[in-house]
Amino acid sequence: MKHIIVILFIVFTAQIIAQTNTDEKINQILDQLSLEEKSFLIIGTGMNFPGLSSKENGPADIVGPTIDVVPGAAGTSYTLKKFDFPAVIFADGPAGIRIDPKRDSLLNQTFYATAFPTASSLASSWDIEILNEVGHAFGNEAKAYGVDFLLGPALNIHRNPLGGRNFEYYSEDPVLAGKLTAGFVNGIQAEGVGATIKHFAANNSETNRLQLNTVVSERALREIYLKGFEIAIKESQPWSVMSSYNKINGVYASENKDLLTKILRDEWGFEGFVMTDWMAGKDAVAQMKAGNDLLMPGRKDQASAIVEAVKSGILDESILDRNIKYIMRQYQKTLSFNNKISSNAPDFEVNKIVARKAAAESMVLLKNKEVLPLTNDTKIALFGNSSYETIAGGTGSGDVNKAYMVSIKEGLTNMAFKLDSKLISDYETFLKIEKAKIPPKKNFLEMDVLVQEKLWDINYLEKIAKNNDIAVFTLGRTSGEVQDRKIEGDFVLTQDELNVIKNISEVFHAQNKKFIVLLNIGSVIETKSWVNHADAILLTWLSGQEAGNAVADLILGKVTPSGKLAQTFPIQIADVASTKNFPGRVLDSNEKPVNPIYGVPSEEIYEEGIYVGYRYFDAFNVDVSYPFGFGLSYTTFEYSNLNILQDGDDFTISCDIKNTGKASGKEVVQLYVKSALGAIEKPVKELKGFTKTKLLNPGDSQQIVIKTNVNELGYYDTKSHSWKLDSGLYNFILASSSKQIELNKEITLEARTIKTTEQLLSPQVDINELSRN
Ligand code: BGC
Repeated sequence: MKHIIVILFIVFTAQIIAQTNTDEKINQILDQLSLEEKSFLIIGTGMNFPGLSSKENGPADIVGPTIDVVPGAAGTSYTLKKFDFPAVIFADGPAGIRIDPKRDSLLNQTFYATAFPTASSLASSWDIEILNEVGHAFGNEAKAYGVDFLLGPALNIHRNPLGGRNFEYYSEDPVLAGKLTAGFVNGIQAEGVGATIKHFAANNSETNRLQLNTVVSERALREIYLKGFEIAIKESQPWSVMSSYNKINGVYASENKDLLTKILRDEWGFEGFVMTDWMAGKDAVAQMKAGNDLLMPGRKDQASAIVEAVKSGILDESILDRNIKYIMRQYQKTLSFNNKISSNAPDFEVNKIVARKAAAESMVLLKNKEVLPLTNDTKIALFGNSSYETIAGGTGSGDVNKAYMVSIKEGLTNMAFKLDSKLISDYETFLKIEKAKIPPKKNFLEMDVLVQEKLWDINYLEKIAKNNDIAVFTLGRTSGEVQDRKIEGDFVLTQDELNVIKNISEVFHAQNKKFIVLLNIGSVIETKSWVNHADAILLTWLSGQEAGNAVADLILGKVTPSGKLAQTFPIQIADVASTKNFPGRVLDSNEKPVNPIYGVPSEEIYEEGIYVGYRYFDAFNVDVSYPFGFGLSYTTFEYSNLNILQDGDDFTISCDIKNTGKASGKEVVQLYVKSALGAIEKPVKELKGFTKTKLLNPGDSQQIVIKTNVNELGYYDTKSHSWKLDSGLYNFILASSSKQIELNKEITLEARTIKTTEQLLSPQVDINELSRN
C-alpha cells in the first residue's frame, strides 16, 4: 500500500511539473504575442468547401492556410511561425478518418481510410474492449495520415428513432453511451491522437439544427443528456469537446458558460479545450467568454470581433489568454507538434481485421425459428438491393472514403455459400440500370439516394425457390447529417418493400423453405407489420467496409451472435414519448432560410423529460417490438450465484454465467437498479453497469463482475439542485435484456445528498413534463 502511495505521489508530482513546464512555456509565448496574433490562435483556418473557404494568411508570424496539409480534413489551426508552432489537423469522424482519398500532387498514391462499423452498430457489442480496440485502430490510422485530432466519437442520445444522426450515436441510454465512448477515447488517445467527443449537448435532431432551441428540464439534462458526457470526461479525459449547434434553454451551446465552464470544467474537471461545431453559434465574443476556446472552422471576422472586444473593454484579455492556454496544452501533445512524420501507410491489414471483428460482435439476432446458422452447402437465393450494394455507413461528416466495400453477396461467396447465379445476374443488371438514373451527389452532405426494391413477379420467385434451399432478403436504409429521418418509407417500410418481403415469404414457405431478413440499417425501423413473414431476422447495422464478411461469419456460425440492442424497437413511431415534439416547431413560419443548411428558428420541447427509451416503455407499460438490451444467440446461458459485496460506497456485483447450449458464445450481462420510492418519481429501473463474458464453450462457466457506487444510484432533484438518494430498498437486477430479469437482490440504503450543484441551464418557460403521477 505504502509503495502504491509513493508511486502515485511521484506520478502526480511528475504530472504537475510537466504541466508547469508546459504552462510556463505557453505563458512566455503569450507574453510575446500581439492581440491580433492571439486572435488567430482561437480560430481555425477556414473550410475547404465551396463558398466557405477563407484561404487567406494571418499576420506575418501567424501563417495559414494549412488546410491542404491533409486534404479533405475538416480543419486546421494556424501555424505560429515565430515559435515554430506547427498547424494541427482535425479530421472527421466517428466511423473512419474522413480525408480525400486522392491528391493532385501525389497521383500515384491513395489515401483511403478504413470504414469501421458506425456507432449505433458498435454500441450493440456492449463491449468496452472492442471499442477500445477500434479506438486504437483509428488512432493508428490517424497517426499514419498526420491527423492530430479525430472529430469523434459522438454520443448524443437516441431520443427518437427519427434522429438523422442516430447512426453516429451509440444509444438511448447515457451510461452505455458514456462508457463505450470512454473505451473508444482511451484507445485513440493511447496512440497519441486526440479525441473530440461531440456534440455537447442535447443535439438529438438535425432539422434546423443551427437555429434550434432545445427546451429541456434541468433533471432530464443532468440524468439523460449530460450524463454520458460526464462519464466519458471522467473516465477518459478527451483532449477536446465539440460544443453543439443548438441552443439549450435559449442560449447557444457554444455561448453557454453554464454548460462549457461551470459544468464541464468546474464540476466535472475537464482539462482539454472546447471547439465549436462547424459554424455554430453567432457571437464570437460570447463564445470566448463562455469557455468555447476554439472557433471552427474559423473566420477572420471572428478574430477581428475578438480584437475589437478586447480593445473596447467588452472582453478581458485574460479570458483570451486562458482559452489559448487550454488549446495549447493539448496542441503540445500532438504528433504535428512533436515533429512526428506521417507515414501515409496505415496498417490496413490489421485494421480490417478489427473492423470485421467489431462488426460481427455488434450484429443482433432478433429472431431465429431454428434457421440459423446455416451450413455453406445451403443454396441461397439472395434478394434485396443491399445484399449487393451493402451500405457501410451514413452520409455527411460521418462518411468515410474507403478503399473497398465487402457486400453481403461477396461475404457469403467468400465463405463458399452457394448463391443463385441467375438471381445475382438479374439483380446486378437491375441495379446498374437504376443507379444510372440517379444524379451524382454534389457534395458530401447530400444524402445517398437508394434504388427502390424490385418487385419480382410470383412466377419468377417460384422458379428461384425451386432451385434454392432458402431465401435471404436484405433491407437497406441510409441517413445523414442535416436532416432527420421520415416516417413513411424510412421508419415504416415502403409498400414495395412490404410486398417483396411478403411475396418471397409466401412463395418459399409454400415450398417448405425458410426466409431470413437482414437489416442493413443505421437506426430503428418498424418491424411488427412484416415480422411474421420472416423465420429469422439479423440486424446487421451499418457495419463498415467488412460488413459482408461479418454477416457471413454469423450466418455460418463461425461467430455466434452476441450483440444486444442499445435502443428500443417500438411497435410504432407514435409509441415513442418524444415523437409528438419531434423535431420541434418552426417559430416564425414566414421566415425563409437564407441557406437551407442554416434552417429557420425553431424550438423542440422535451416534454417527455427523463422518459427516454426503455425508461418510458417500462414506466408506462407500453409494449415494444424488441426491448432495450435484447439479442438472441445460437446458444443459451444460465445465471447463478448472485453476490453483492459492499465496501463503503462501492458495490461489487458478481454472478456465474454458464453456457448451457450447444454452440460457443458470449453473453452480455446488464445491471439495472430499481430505486427506492421517494417523493420524486423515477424510472422503473436504470442501467448502472454491464459486461460481456469471454467466449464460453458449451458447458463452460465464468464469474462476471460489475461495479457501481452508491453515488451512481441517485436522481437529480431540481428543487434543491442536487443529486440525491432516497432511503429504502434498492433492487439490484442482473438481466439478459431490459425485459428479462435473471437474478436480483434487494439492498437497503440510507438517504443522502450526493452532490449539490449550482442552478444551471434552467428552462425559461414551464415545461409540461410527462409524469406518472
Ligand atoms: C458536424 C460535425 C463535424 C463537422 C466537421 C459538422 O457539420 O456536425 O460533427 O465534425 O461538421 O466536418
